[in-house]
This record gives sequence, C-alpha cells and structure tokens, in this order.
Amino acid sequence: MPGTLLEWPAWPEFIKIDTLDPDFLKAKHEIIAQYGEPALRASWLETCAKLDGITEDIINRGSSIIPIIKIQDVLRVGFTEEQEAEIKRVGSFVIRDVIPEREATELFQDLKNYVANNQQHITGWPTETPSILSIYTSPVQMTVRTHPNQLALQRHLNALWHDSTGETSPDPLLYFDGVRIRAPNQTFMGLGPHIDAGSLCRWADPAYRLVYDKVFSGHVSEHDSFDLGIRKSADQYMFPGSAQSTFFRSFQGWTALTRAAPREGSLMLYPNVATAIAYVLLRPFFHPPANEADILDAEKWTFNAEDGFFPGTYKPNSQLLSPTSHPHLRLMECMVNIPTMKAGDTVWWHSDVCHAVEPEHTGKDDASVVYVAASPTTEINKAYTKRQLEAVLAGRAPPDFRAHGNADETKFKGYVGFAGMSEEAKKALGI
Ligand SMILES: [Fe+2]
Repeated sequence: MPGTLLEWPAWPEFIKIDTLDPDFLKAKHEIIAQYGEPALRASWLETCAKLDGITEDIINRGSSIIPIIKIQDVLRVGFTEEQEAEIKRVGSFVIRDVIPEREATELFQDLKNYVANNQQHITGWPTETPSILSIYTSPVQMTVRTHPNQLALQRHLNALWHDSTGETSPDPLLYFDGVRIRAPNQTFMGLGPHIDAGSLCRWADPAYRLVYDKVFSGHVSEHDSFDLGIRKSADQYMFPGSAQSTFFRSFQGWTALTRAAPREGSLMLYPNVATAIAYVLLRPFFHPPANEADILDAEKWTFNAEDGFFPGTYKPNSQLLSPTSHPHLRLMECMVNIPTMKAGDTVWWHSDVCHAVEPEHTGKDDASVVYVAASPTTEINKAYTKRQLEAVLAGRAPPDFRAHGNADETKFKGYVGFAGMSEEAKKALGI
C-alpha cells in the first residue's frame, strides 16, 4: 500500500494497567456526570462508523492524501476554499519553497558549523546519539523563524482558526524550539505515534474539555477543531512534564534544511484530525470485547465507568497511541509518510494530529530540520513569549525546555542574539 511502513516498528503498545492515580478516574467520572452514558455511546458508535470510511480512504490514497501547496500561491491569494477544506479535514499539509532551496542549504552548513564550534556545550536527545539538539537561539534558527515568508505563512495558518470572542489575533508569536540533525543509519525509536499539547489535561481541565464538548455530548459530527475562541483558554500544562508545552500552537511544524524522504528519518502523520481525536478522547470510556475477532465491532465494546485506565495517557507525556490500544484507527496502515521534502520546504500539523518520527534513516546524508510552529496571539501565548524572551536573553533555555538542557547560548561562538531583526520579526518575538 502506498506511503506506509513495510514493517511496524517495535514501538510500545499500551495495554491495560491498574493505574493508582485517582486523577484519571476522577476525570472520567466528571465527564460521565456532565454528559451521561447515552451521549458518550452515541458519539462512540458514530466515530467508529466514520473511521471505517476514513481509514479505507487513507489506505487507498496513502501519502498522497496530504495536501501540497506552494508558498508563492499562499502569499499571492491565500488558501483556496478547496485547499482550506482539505487542510481542515486532513489536519496536516506541506508548504513548499518557504525558504529558497539554495538559501536553506547554506543555512544548513551554517548550522553545522555553529554546532561544531560549540559541540562541547550542546546536549540533545537521545543522550547517546543526540539528534534533537537543545539549542534555541542559533543565528540559523533565528533566520528560519523570522524569514518574511515564514511570518506571512504563519499568519495565514493562524487565520484558519476562528474566534468569535475577538480576544485573539492571527498575528504570529514565535515559539523557540530545537533543531534536528540526524545522521544516516541512526535508529531512533523515541517518538512513536503521539499527539502533543497535553495528555490527561484534555479530559481533566474543564476549559480544555470544553474544546471537545460536541464529542462528549453525542454531537461528534459538529466538533470543530478550529475554534480558537474556546481553545485559547485550554490548560495544556495542567500536569507539567518535559513533553508538555504551555504555549499553544495552531500548527506544529518544521522547516527542512536538507532533503527529507520516506525511510530517511522523516515524519509520519495520521491524516485526519477531528474524527481521530474524537476516537482517542472516547476510547477510555469503552472496554474491548473479549473475542479478538469482534475488536472492530464498536457495538460489542462495553461502557466502562469504573476503571481509570486511559490507554497511552501518562500525565507528564504526550498522548501516546498504539495499534492494540486504538484499534479502529488502524495505525499500522494509516500512519503515512510525508512526501519527499527538499531544503526550504515545510510540513505542518494541527495540535490534535497524531504523528511519529520514522525509526530508520537509510539515506546517505544528514536529515536536518528546524522546528518552527505557527502560533496566534492569545493571552497564554503573550505571557509565555515574555517569559521566553527574558529566559533566552539571560542565557537560559526557553521555559518549556528547561528539562532538556540549560547551556548559556549567549556565550556560544557565533551567537548574535536578536541582531538584525525586522520590525515584524520583533513583534513576533515580543520585543
Ligand atoms: Fe510531537
């Protein structure tokens, strides 16, 4: 089948554990008390039925389901109605040529030099063979984040969300994240299928729960994944952890500094947003049938009010997924590779979209990306941007990344800080 893994990697499965943390059962009981079993069951059945068609479509179309759009078209006319509908349905997409290929290739050389010149101070993950580097303010990262095309694109991406309260704006705010330089033949099992922007807080935080009100209330087809008016207040950091972010990203993303191709340490996506997240949210309320042959028959799953097992949910981690724990998603067939990227291309995925990093890199060269997200102006993001600026100017890691290393980059060879930033970039940086 097109665009999926030949063999499913040895990523962890999330099978029943007897969790002792009472917060899980508490969140479950609150939702049952608020919405009731019939509503949850109605959404469960509708969601699983919809996934039948969605997964068939993904299996048939593979990677080609992911929209590919050129930056020049976005800058000229924005997204067409058709593109917007596809982006909102699939939840992920590629924007090509955001940075001209030659410029991006030169930036990669600059980044390599910067890393080589400061090697002894740079840490990363995994510890033994670091490929995700804990650096945040290298000149290359600053250039990539604040490139005029990048800022203009981020404004368009933020505007795909709507907010009837008028308390937010699509003006981009920049989130300082790390970079990846992955050497060929480096195996990396650390990022199997997962969804960022919190774990148990999606159920436990009343403001976050409200984002999924239609899912829990039996009106799952009315769930709107792009309502910033509600989402802006969600607490993604209710349960702190190194995988959690305070900051809200309308779309996570990265900008390639090299080629990135299937089986070369690139990205895999689950190309659906609204129905897949509804399934993940409803899953803890239902217990699988005993007979393995009935596993995809949603009618045979029983309502489960009494145990606190949320598959793949661990407070300090991202929301994790696996074929056994989330069978109707048919992850083995539906996690698709993103298309081959060249230097300067970007990929974006909604904050509720399941994604994974390929465990193998069979290419010949380094695969390098700069993590650059799109983020609107909200109260939470404004407050974070201020703390982020104070931290990096003082030579500390950005607040969400303190657990990942705290080298003082202001003392690095080649550090130029915020020199040469445009007015628009300064605004996005909170200066
Ligand atoms: Fe992630």
